[in-house]
Amino acid sequence: MFGSLVLLLLSSVATSGSLPSGSASSHVSFHSFVERGVFGPISTGSAAGIAGGQIACDSPPVSSFFAGLKPPFPTNSWWAPFAAPPGTGTAAGPFPYESALDGYGVQFGISTNRQWDGTSIKQPTQIDWLASFTEHSGTFANHKATSFDTQSVTIQYFQGSASMTAYLVPGSPYMTFQYSQATPLLKSMHGGIKMFNGRTIAVGETSSATGTQFTVVDTAGTTYRIYALASITLTATSISPNSGTISAGTQFTGVLRLVMLAQASHQALLDQHYQVYPTSVGHDYSFTDTTGTLFFNWNTVGDGSQLLMLTWPHHRLTMQNPNFPATTALGYLTTKGWMYPAIGNTWKMLYQLTSISWNAPRALDSSCSDTVLLGLEYEVGQLNSSQAPVPGDFYYWGGKLAAQSRLALIADNLGRPDLVTPVINYLKASFQHWFDSASSTLPAYETAWGGVISKAGANNAWVDFGNGYYNDHHFHYGYFLNVAAVIAKFDTNWLNQHREYINWFARDIINPSTQDPYFPVARCRDWFAGHSWASGIANGAGSRDQESTGEAVNGYYGALLWASVALSQDYVNYAKLLIATEQQAAQVYWHLYPQAGQTDRDNPYPEPEVRSLVTMGNVQDWQSGAWLFWGSQRSQIAAIQILPVTPVLYDKQWVENVWSYTMPELVNPTIGDEWKCVIIAAYANSNPQAAASWAANLTDWGSGNTFTNEMYFIGTRPNPRGTPICSDFPQNPYGSFKLQVASSGAFVTASSATPNLIATPGSSGAAAATFTSAYVPNAGTLQLAGTGQYVTADQSGSAALAAARATASTWERFTIRRKVGAAADVYSIRAGSNGLYVTVAGDGSLVNNGANEAVAAGFRFVAA
Ligand SMILES: *[C@@H]1O[C@H](CO)[C@@H](O)[C@H](O)[C@H]1NC(C)=O
Ligand SMILES: *[C@@H]1O[C@H](CO)[C@@H](O)[C@H](O)[C@H]1NC(C)=O
Repeated sequence: MFGSLVLLLLSSVATSGSLPSGSASSHVSFHSFVERGVFGPISTGSAAGIAGGQIACDSPPVSSFFAGLKPPFPTNSWWAPFAAPPGTGTAAGPFPYESALDGYGVQFGISTNRQWDGTSIKQPTQIDWLASFTEHSGTFANHKATSFDTQSVTIQYFQGSASMTAYLVPGSPYMTFQYSQATPLLKSMHGGIKMFNGRTIAVGETSSATGTQFTVVDTAGTTYRIYALASITLTATSISPNSGTISAGTQFTGVLRLVMLAQASHQALLDQHYQVYPTSVGHDYSFTDTTGTLFFNWNTVGDGSQLLMLTWPHHRLTMQNPNFPATTALGYLTTKGWMYPAIGNTWKMLYQLTSISWNAPRALDSSCSDTVLLGLEYEVGQLNSSQAPVPGDFYYWGGKLAAQSRLALIADNLGRPDLVTPVINYLKASFQHWFDSASSTLPAYETAWGGVISKAGANNAWVDFGNGYYNDHHFHYGYFLNVAAVIAKFDTNWLNQHREYINWFARDIINPSTQDPYFPVARCRDWFAGHSWASGIANGAGSRDQESTGEAVNGYYGALLWASVALSQDYVNYAKLLIATEQQAAQVYWHLYPQAGQTDRDNPYPEPEVRSLVTMGNVQDWQSGAWLFWGSQRSQIAAIQILPVTPVLYDKQWVENVWSYTMPELVNPTIGDEWKCVIIAAYANSNPQAAASWAANLTDWGSGNTFTNEMYFIGTRPNPRGTPICSDFPQNPYGSFKLQVASSGAFVTASSATPNLIATPGSSGAAAATFTSAYVPNAGTLQLAGTGQYVTADQSGSAALAAARATASTWERFTIRRKVGAAADVYSIRAGSNGLYVTVAGDGSLVNNGANEAVAAGFRFVAA
């Protein structure tokens, strides 16, 4: 319907006007972008009708901080530590700086201490200066946020008629402080003051200078330039070897800008551009049917075309028509790599949008059809809507149900509507609990910050991974939206009945508009950092982190599916932009490429030792490392950047890196198949044939994946070799059989009186037991005809197999394969309970104790 038209008019109209009176620089023009082109709210309705009702989190914003502002408030932004109690945590920016608020003012600095500990790159926060004014009493309540947008926050410190306003704008090399009738006071925090404007000052001495440009060197050797936008007299005082101040003798109304001078050669560019400063950021976007363009539009004081900002690698990779000075002109090494300069107050970043929606972008390879359909029939057959799970939490429920929901999509894709309905009924039966106020696990609308939370977590950060404190919402609600979208796709009545309710979950993570009175804009997304933060407001909003880029992408993928069935094309596009940006950041900052060059401009990790770890587990503001809060295996660290397995893609080079890096674990039988299956699926993006043969040996897909989804995914990858992907996919012989030991010719007996499976020498086929061999994914069950009992094998490997279970679970599964090196009709049997092969003991008992196939007994399956 939209063709290739640009959907939105995004002209960033600069309006000129004069500065408010009292400004020292009223001759400069004031550029302000009108926020045009951003989408309106998904809805403006309240979530009062949500099953858990309303509740207030026991950790509301610091009461004075948002004075004069009303929720919804951002919870996962880089500056959440300013707002979350106690309000003194270190904020993840504004990069290249990190900052914190104390009673007197804004502390800030750039970490110059880059460390490598074998697992992580670390740049511990460094505080260089405190910006304050002498009139301020230090009363903590005497500061507040006066405004914020999708990237920046404006903080004002005030005392009587004196004030200092800090424009904290990510990417600005200068920290900007606008004083009004206040006496500027800067305190050195990283050492004492050694030199001021080229003059060495000893402890106890002072030095004054008048003008607009100053240079100060602290005793740690760190140099800052101080720019005043109106002439000022500053006096530097060396108080002790560890402390010093720079103050103005009188009240000042005007702007001071501080910038770390990392190298003397950077001064020229900084001197050239200090007069233009950003006060806030507008962002908008435009779309074609294949691309999305993201715009950052800084509102500036001064000529916006001369605004000097800093870029991260992910910006540089997508910026259109950039005005980049030489990288030697200015640069700061941060945990996201080098920040380099760009000039101008509009950035335009182009992203390719995914064309994938419900299913893979190509048909299932015909060689995989039987395999997938068998799995589908079996796995759908396991879903009994009378036994649909009652949600006991948000995260695991969502992951499991989302995995089941894919079965409906695959059935639909393969033309099996008969297999769609049972899945939808099952999903609906389980989802129904979220609408029921009598449920034990409930979503509620949280009123202190504004959002939907897990009600039981409103006063307990340990519930649902801190969901009540706004952790992980995009992970959790992404799964909810996946499930709801699938139900809605096949049940319009359900959609119409529950659209507003499901929208509360969608609005919680992808609300695009400040006009939504109940939810902040794109809660988890840090637009300047280019990705989402999982961390909310727990622990004073501590460090920002995100471990699971796979689930972050899936969060926006769930939103895409929901938008495509329940909302308009605008929100489909918005979700696609969120996917594209999150994927790019995952690729740039989480996926590591040993192939990258050490001096590549856009390689965030110059150290080759870091990149040889192939995958970051956790990216934080001050460190990034190949570790997780919960696991240390290579396959876990990589798999959490991949799962859940959905049609959204992973890049070929990285999956090849992951494949070789995790290989020691992939061949290690003690590592769980629930992780291996994720790595194997991802590897199909490089070599689907190899992935299929590895997938044939899996017996566990975890709660977040299914056999059907694994094989569907592998069978729908690009196939550059062109050979069948699932050729010779092995399976058990299915049907009714008598089992004969190949070496002795003895047949296996079992009965209700003697349930053990025993190969009796010289026994005839007539006396042998008949077993029904039935399908389970990559294995099967053996059921004794006559008694109906399933053959079980315990984990000890010391007891005989016995036809002794009324129902079949994992201990009643066997993988029966053509035995390597034996005649064509001879099979080995491997027990699912312990992974060992069945041998024949001296007394003829069948025992699952063979370490490898070579020592396994060979069996003929003689049709009964
Ligand atoms: C589904 O579950 C119900 C309730 O437990 C049970 O009565 C019914 O037999 C089950 N249906 C199937 C096909 O197993
Ligand atoms: C799968 O298992 C079989 C039997 O144990 C083994 O021969 C084969 O090498 C395995 N395939 C892969 C790809 O590991």
